[in-house]
Amino acid sequence: MREHWVLDPEYTYLNHGTVGAPPRRVLERQQALRDELERQPARFMLRELNGHQPAPWRAESRIREAVRSVAGFLGSRSEDLVFVPNVTTGLNAVLRSIPLAPGDEVVIPDLSYGAIALAAGIATRERGGTLRVVEMPYPVRDPDGIVDALISALTPRTRLVVVDHITALTALVLPVRAIAAECHARGVMVLVDGAHAPGAVALDIPSIGADWYVANLHKWAHAPRACGILWASSDRQRDLHHPVVSWGSGQGFREEFEWTATSDPTSCLAAPEGIALLREWGFDAVLDYMHGLAWEAAGILAGSWRTTVLTPRAMVGAMVTVPLSEAAGATDSDAARLRLALLVDDRIEVQLHAWRGRLWVRVSAQVYNDRSDMVRLAAAVSRQLHAA
Ligand SMILES: Cc1ncc(COP(=O)(O)O)c(C=O)c1O
Repeated sequence: MREHWVLDPEYTYLNHGTVGAPPRRVLERQQALRDELERQPARFMLRELNGHQPAPWRAESRIREAVRSVAGFLGSRSEDLVFVPNVTTGLNAVLRSIPLAPGDEVVIPDLSYGAIALAAGIATRERGGTLRVVEMPYPVRDPDGIVDALISALTPRTRLVVVDHITALTALVLPVRAIAAECHARGVMVLVDGAHAPGAVALDIPSIGADWYVANLHKWAHAPRACGILWASSDRQRDLHHPVVSWGSGQGFREEFEWTATSDPTSCLAAPEGIALLREWGFDAVLDYMHGLAWEAAGILAGSWRTTVLTPRAMVGAMVTVPLSEAAGATDSDAARLRLALLVDDRIEVQLHAWRGRLWVRVSAQVYNDRSDMVRLAAAVSRQLHAA
């Protein structure tokens, strides 16, 4: 599968989850869109893009056409979905749209992505509320342990829970459907950060039952950077606002997110090409391969480093996080040193970080990876630690 990517063949790339890596054919589609745009920029951007000045020669705007194609892949109605540049923008939109009264509480697990916890903290405090970060159990025995820990932290003042579908550092697939059901039973709204989900796990957004679901397509769904989606249940759309005020402000959910300031729309317009590729390769087969390789990697790495995998297989998607031995260090600078040594000496790009007092490696298992990549990483880490 490697031939479908422009990735440097001299390097072992095990970090797909971080910023994605669009396949060649998607990049070609994006370039074709850019070429088309630049032949008649005003016609493309003003008349065809968002339907504000509808072009009589088009049945629907270019954005709506792309949204419709993406919506099918996500199980969504196209009217409930808008493009955003990335998850951070989509989450900020929701967090800044929710009215909070003084004393209201927003709850977020301590497994959440740092920038999102930061955004949740600022938006909550600006509205007079309080952000409560809940410590989650780790190692995790099963998905129920996560639901119990999160739900038992709710109080009568909790208005909103912000929860990841797949966590960043620990790479856990969280039971978001059960979390949403338990929260709603207590009158608590649910915002899901699905940054890593589309293309990495089978996804039917409405069936999760959240109020809002935000995700990136530029990670596992093979869209060019940057392209994300924001889904809102129909009763949450009226009060949802883009964090940047522009022409569409106050005109309705879709207008507000589609009639924005000038930007390059070609990443989102090329997103259907990434989904088309997944379908051509056979999406179920892709999911099986990635999940199987991630789980195999866990065994290879933990076996080689004499550590224990702390994640149940049921909570693994296309990434897995494995602890290094305690002798590898425990600090951010230990992690940075080893990450750099692997890149410079061994030409391996992988996510490696310090968390809860030890070092961890998170590997992404994309279809261009195979077992030999995992064996190389296992040996390279052992060699680096032996040499240190
Ligand atoms: C769980 C999670 N949420 C949010 C983000 C932020 O994504 P972006 O920078 O595309 O907004 C990431 C990025 O890796 C992530 O892992």
